[in-house]
Amino acid sequence: MSEPFLIGEKMTGGYGKGPDILHECTIAVEKGEIAVIVGPNGAGKSTAMKAVFGMLDIRGGSVRLDGEDITRLTPQARVAKGMAFVPQTSNIFTSLTVEENLEMGAFLRHDDISETMEQVYGLFPILREKRHQAAGELSGGQRQQVAVGRALMTQPTLLMLDEPTAGVSPIVMDELFDRIIEVARTGISILMVEQNARQALAIADKGYVLVQGRNAYTGTGRELLDDPEVRKSFLGG
Ligand SMILES: Nc1ncnc2c1ncn2[C@@H]1O[C@H](COP(=O)(O)OP(=O)(O)O)[C@@H](O)[C@H]1O
Ligand SMILES: [Mg+2]
Repeated sequence: MSEPFLIGEKMTGGYGKGPDILHECTIAVEKGEIAVIVGPNGAGKSTAMKAVFGMLDIRGGSVRLDGEDITRLTPQARVAKGMAFVPQTSNIFTSLTVEENLEMGAFLRHDDISETMEQVYGLFPILREKRHQAAGELSGGQRQQVAVGRALMTQPTLLMLDEPTAGVSPIVMDELFDRIIEVARTGISILMVEQNARQALAIADKGYVLVQGRNAYTGTGRELLDDPEVRKSFLGG
């Protein structure tokens, strides 16, 4: 098998001097595909995302992007390599306008950002309408669009999303997943943590079930949805 576009391979580590949270945890995503991480609360899903993004010093394993070992790079250096990360909380500037949030997302760029901004507004038309409003005035689903839009402003090759649909209605969730599929179709790889496991696995090319910092089940989204053990333990039957 050839090397995946992004792989965090056998990642082992935890926070500071604390105990290991991840135990030889492996997460990968191919170019333009969607990989989804699911599992119980506290399983280490967010920690695995942070490890891939360089917010955690791992004791073992490695992270490789497009064939390059980036294990020792800072998060900022990884952004310059094409990674974008939307954390679970505090992922927008609520006192800034929607458009200012998007501009902030492009702070590392020195070229013309207007075309990318048009792409974001094309993807999320409501953000164009509300571009002069403070992001804090928007609904939960719209704020998540701002967060994703802001990440896209860096023109990433890999977009990492930690629970992008947290707290939104099923309709808004479906809508957001449709937009995420659209982003993947442009060739951007998506690595996403989701509580809405069924719906997320339904759009996943690859799925990972994490339990206590370890890979418990791995397969295509379809395989995991069809696996009786996975259904019983993690998808409510
Ligand atoms: N900043 C942190 N410092 C120390 N421990 C943490 C920190 N963040 C998370 N943990 C611990 O790591 C474990 C996994 O947490 P997390 O990755 O947030 O799980 P999940 O995202 O799957 O719900 C939990 O036991 C949690 O208490
Ligand atoms: Mg989490």
